[in-house]
Amino acid sequence: MKTIIEPFKIKSVEPIKFTTKEERKKILAKAGYNPFMIHADDVLIDLLTDSGTSAMSSDQWAGIMRGDESYAGAKSFYKFEAAVKKITGDKFIIPTHQGRAAEKIIFSILGGTGKYFASNTFFDTTRANIEFTGAEAVDLLVEVGKHPEKRAPFKGNMDVKALEAFIKKVGKENIPMVVLTVTNNSGGGQPVSMQNIRDVKNVCKKYGILLFLDACRFAENAYFIKLREKGFEKKPVLEICQEMFSYADGSTMSAKKDALVNIGGWLSLNDDELALKCRNLLIVTEGFPTYGGLAGRDLEAIAQGLEEVVDEHYLEYRIRSTEYLGKKIMAAGVPIIEPPGGHAIYIDAKRFLPGIPPNEYPGQAIVCELYIQGGVRTVEIGSVMFGKYDRDGKLIPAMMELVRLAIPRRVYTQSHVDYIAEVVIETFNNRKKMKGYKIIYEAPMLRHFTAKFKPL
Ligand code: F0G
Repeated sequence: MKTIIEPFKIKSVEPIKFTTKEERKKILAKAGYNPFMIHADDVLIDLLTDSGTSAMSSDQWAGIMRGDESYAGAKSFYKFEAAVKKITGDKFIIPTHQGRAAEKIIFSILGGTGKYFASNTFFDTTRANIEFTGAEAVDLLVEVGKHPEKRAPFKGNMDVKALEAFIKKVGKENIPMVVLTVTNNSGGGQPVSMQNIRDVKNVCKKYGILLFLDACRFAENAYFIKLREKGFEKKPVLEICQEMFSYADGSTMSAKKDALVNIGGWLSLNDDELALKCRNLLIVTEGFPTYGGLAGRDLEAIAQGLEEVVDEHYLEYRIRSTEYLGKKIMAAGVPIIEPPGGHAIYIDAKRFLPGIPPNEYPGQAIVCELYIQGGVRTVEIGSVMFGKYDRDGKLIPAMMELVRLAIPRRVYTQSHVDYIAEVVIETFNNRKKMKGYKIIYEAPMLRHFTAKFKPL
């Protein structure tokens, strides 16, 4: 087999700034050892997120010029609506400015004190939008998904037995919705199988509970189904996507991921009454239902992006280039969540730095060191992000201590990826010298964005 190449050529380039190690040490200290606080200009390779960081195609940029900016009934909206319908098959397509805006709308309507929502794993904004209403968000991931070192094809699956037990425990009338996050971002970018979607659907149907997809990375999930699930080897990815959505009653979407754009999202659904409520709330919070917090040009770019993201050359390159990074650092002994996920590689900080306990934030130590060593920006997904305190103020650590290397779509080439691998491996080889961190400032919610640290 020949080398898998980037399925595009580059028409417009964006220079990146080189800094010295000494400069980076100062920059990091000034940022309170929190890479969210670093100016992007001081980052050489930015793996903070795959969200809103995609490179758009020439056709998408052409769409930007074609955008119809009419307040109501813009041509661009109908294009967007048709493109989303083609994939989701849903009756009502409501544009939002990003994923969390769709979450805010649906959960304010369905949530409230005494309500429960269950998922394979909720993403942090989704969980926050649920908890903000007074409801509870419960993760029911399959057991294998909780073990970074164990390999399985669909580690993002929901534990269907646990779901049924949970419904019996809290009562079906208290669970307005089950959400499947595809792929499972917080659990390592791991896919959910079609069989699992069907099984979850059957349970939801039995108890009259809505099933939604948190669809941010639906195309990557579909490609994993094609690669790994029996019976899908020959099925076009678009059809796999359509089947995934066919079992759901709706979706929330951050177009900043698998629609290959820099801003946008949607809420899709089929229930007339619920759609009416959502649209009314949309008008108050986002905008008129044919633009929903976006410009007409953004809707054009999303419509085009949805065509491009199901292209199988693109998806082959996408999934294989993430895997390439994972395999390369694994070969040098770096512990990661196996197998590599779709949009990111997750370093297992517990095994990388076994001497640093969770309350000294081993993930944060790796994040800081990757920046110092090579100007690579990553993010901790562990006890900084998900840690809580007990009554005595003692840290209740997160389930896993991870560092995410999220790969922006169509942005970096193979030599960038080789460089990233070198930085990770060098950091790994120096791990005995690394120290933990202490939090010296934190906000009451979503603390990881603004926390300040001190090296121990
Ligand atoms: N759901 C999932 C699974 C996500 O990964 C994200 C965003 C959202 C919802 C919210 O979408 O940002 O458009 O409001 N994830 C980004 C990340 C921020 O870095 O993983 P949004």
